[in-house]
Amino acid sequence: MCGIVGYAGRRQAAPILLEGLKKLEYRGYDSAGVAVLDNGTLHVMKRAGSVEGLAPAKSFAGNVGIGHTRWATHGAPTEENAHPHIFGRIALVHNGIIENMKQLKEECLERGETFISETDSEVIAHLLDFCYEGDILAALKKTAARLSGSLALAVISLEEPQRIALARRASPLVVGRAEDGVYLASDIPAIAAKGMKVYALGENEFALLDGKEAHFYAEDGREIEKKPLDYAVEEDVPEKKGFRHFMRKEMSEIPLSIANTQQILRSYPKISALREVLCHAEYIHIVACGTAYHSGLCAKVAFETRARIPVEVAVASEYRYRDPVIQRNTLVIAVSQSGETADTLAAAELAKRSGATLLAVTNVRYSSLARLSDLVLFTAAGREIAVAATKSFNAQLTLLFALAEELAMAKGRGGCGAELFSLPELAQRALASSEEVRAWTPHFLSAKSVFFLGRGADYCVALEGSLKLKEISYLPSEGYPAGELKHGTLALIEKGTPVVAILTSSRLAEKTMNAVHETYARGAKVFLVTSLPEYRKREEILSSVLIPDIGEIYSPVLSVIPLQALAYYVSVARGNDPDKPRNLAKSVTVE
Ligand code: G6P
Repeated sequence: MCGIVGYAGRRQAAPILLEGLKKLEYRGYDSAGVAVLDNGTLHVMKRAGSVEGLAPAKSFAGNVGIGHTRWATHGAPTEENAHPHIFGRIALVHNGIIENMKQLKEECLERGETFISETDSEVIAHLLDFCYEGDILAALKKTAARLSGSLALAVISLEEPQRIALARRASPLVVGRAEDGVYLASDIPAIAAKGMKVYALGENEFALLDGKEAHFYAEDGREIEKKPLDYAVEEDVPEKKGFRHFMRKEMSEIPLSIANTQQILRSYPKISALREVLCHAEYIHIVACGTAYHSGLCAKVAFETRARIPVEVAVASEYRYRDPVIQRNTLVIAVSQSGETADTLAAAELAKRSGATLLAVTNVRYSSLARLSDLVLFTAAGREIAVAATKSFNAQLTLLFALAEELAMAKGRGGCGAELFSLPELAQRALASSEEVRAWTPHFLSAKSVFFLGRGADYCVALEGSLKLKEISYLPSEGYPAGELKHGTLALIEKGTPVVAILTSSRLAEKTMNAVHETYARGAKVFLVTSLPEYRKREEILSSVLIPDIGEIYSPVLSVIPLQALAYYVSVARGNDPDKPRNLAKSVTVE
């Protein structure tokens, strides 16, 4: 999974490529590379590590080029495995996974060809060169027909100095037409500028860019007309604004992200269509990955408690291959910060094919998920740069909880009495008290494992707290239902094991405390995140953070904040970069 970018036009290509790649690093930062065509000469630079390493390539001459930032799938994150891959007359950048790579590679080896990298993408360059008879688009069409798997491909030939050919299957690719030339990228913000017309390639479509024009072709070879996308250029490029890391800065924006999301909902233009859908919904499926999956779990508690509708929450990569039972009047909600996660998109497509109404909850207005869905609700978290999601999670919860209230109303169940409108202010208070978790850090630094415990909504938050810690501190950790601990996991508790309990339900508090006591009795160091002050003084608790009380169902939007802060401080204290954790990427566009 990677980001690709390209340019053909009047300007020097290299600075455009480097700038675009910087904006695509959320898709991977294992290695990066560019190739620039300069009157039949190809200038190439590849580096292991982030795009910054390519700075010397800025001076490459040439008006046509392609670039890539990589998240390793096949082969280690080395310079050899970095794109562009070059063979014979061909250079290419690829995002996706070629599933029949082994068999295709054998074919090339039989022809006596040699390979430099361990990647699946290099085989495409070999096939392309084999098929090439002076027409790069024709060669790409022939080659694509032989590839199984997913691909967004940008290809150049040394013999056609003005052209870039593109192919797309299950990986996003957009083309921008501007006065000075033609651009391509994995997503819109990487290239978008005022006055540019942006087009999205559809499934199995091809394109040919010639420095002035972009021509689009359907799978059967017909040239097709495309309508430009309706998008707005993002004016402000996110900066750290005095914070050491984006993650910490993004956490400071949680109250604003909640307030802006509430505002968007208040002025939602399709509210009557949404209410109609909610009125008829008899079943709800929520599909998502990672942090978004956890917001789905929190939403299930709210939807079921408030509206008494059965909700299934599924990890999208499971749902898409499971043949799920989608009954009439099923509303499928796909939750995705980026709107580009491959598994979530596939699950959403499956739901749509099966006749469900598809509602997207996404932070990116022009994302593939937004384009696919019947209805779209936007979280207004603003751009999130740090790989570990923070403010977007709080925004997703804000939106999904408001939806739970709409749903309850549609089902005639009245208001819940919770003061959701005051969430931004409560989140500000939770943020302030979260600073106290900094003092917990030394107890976690070299822990063998960490446990997060809760029941009900607190359990859903325990899962997210654990994921945050794993992602950026690299400590093994588990989120566990407090009551289930005694059925096996308790065996892992040793003297000094950090246990974080989440306690926001007076109904369940004593029950959770039973489990807490069981860990304490075995030597665990217990830390508490709670909205119930009376539990802070309990002998089991080594240290605690008090968050405002918003009631059990909606507490996750606040209780997660100290856990995000904990993960951040532990990560930094362990010498990691919380913004770019090893092996991960912000948006996972391969399955
Ligand atoms: C990646 C990110 C996670 C994110 C997940 C789902 O794994 O590292 O932070 O939660 O993808 O992303 P999405 O954009 O679909 O919410």
